[in-house]
Amino acid sequence: MVLEFLDRMKNIVTYDADREFYAKVFPDSVPRKDLMRLRRMRTADLPQVLAIENANYKFPWCQEVFEDCLRVNYSCWVCEESDKVLGFSIVSIAVGEAHILNINVDPAEQGQGIGRMMLENLIAVARSKDAETVFLEVRPSNSVAIALYESMGFNEIGLRKGYYPAEHGREDALMLALELV
Ligand SMILES: CC(C)(COP(=O)(O)OP(=O)(O)OC[C@H]1O[C@@H](n2cnc3c(N)ncnc32)[C@H](O)[C@@H]1OP(=O)(O)O)[C@@H](O)C(=O)NCCC(=O)NCCS
Repeated sequence: MVLEFLDRMKNIVTYDADREFYAKVFPDSVPRKDLMRLRRMRTADLPQVLAIENANYKFPWCQEVFEDCLRVNYSCWVCEESDKVLGFSIVSIAVGEAHILNINVDPAEQGQGIGRMMLENLIAVARSKDAETVFLEVRPSNSVAIALYESMGFNEIGLRKGYYPAEHGREDALMLALELV
């Protein structure tokens, strides 16, 4: 179990600098996905993170919220390729419960498997910290995200009335959960 997890994390965090060299010299020699890596988010990433957040949401988080997530040591990740942040994800984990707080891919980079890769990473992190359940909220109108979550085994467990701000009033949130044990 532990070895399997370490192996998965190794695949996620291992980054072969030679690949970047070959990609520059022989652009067709390295699949683009091999140049993407997941790593912990840093304060210096926030301008790029905020640009993605603002591009995707009408009611985005402000910089202070991201700073708080980093300060309280939530598990904050970016997916990057050659110093460009392509997406980010944040999960808080405590007393057996993991809550996915944000998962977000640059609109120009969506539909290439980055969201799935980041979600798999958050689930692996939650498992490594002995979380028993992963929770998240999603707008019922967000069919792309719902398709991703359901394909990873999340199930609908309830509705939070008026959870999200919307252009006219508030929008409900679907609550989804994934059992890890
Ligand atoms: C939701 C989001 C994170 C998914 O990331 P992504 O990198 O675009 O998705 P992936 O390429 O990894 O695709 C994962 C799955 O999502 C679904 N999906 C992706 N693009 C889709 C599209 N255009 N239409 C329908 N389903 C789609 C599919 O089920 C896909 O699985 P498949 O490739 O096996 O068919 C991303 O679209 C995003 O950042 N959206 C804006 C922010 C957001 O809504 N975040 C979630 C808030 S709860």
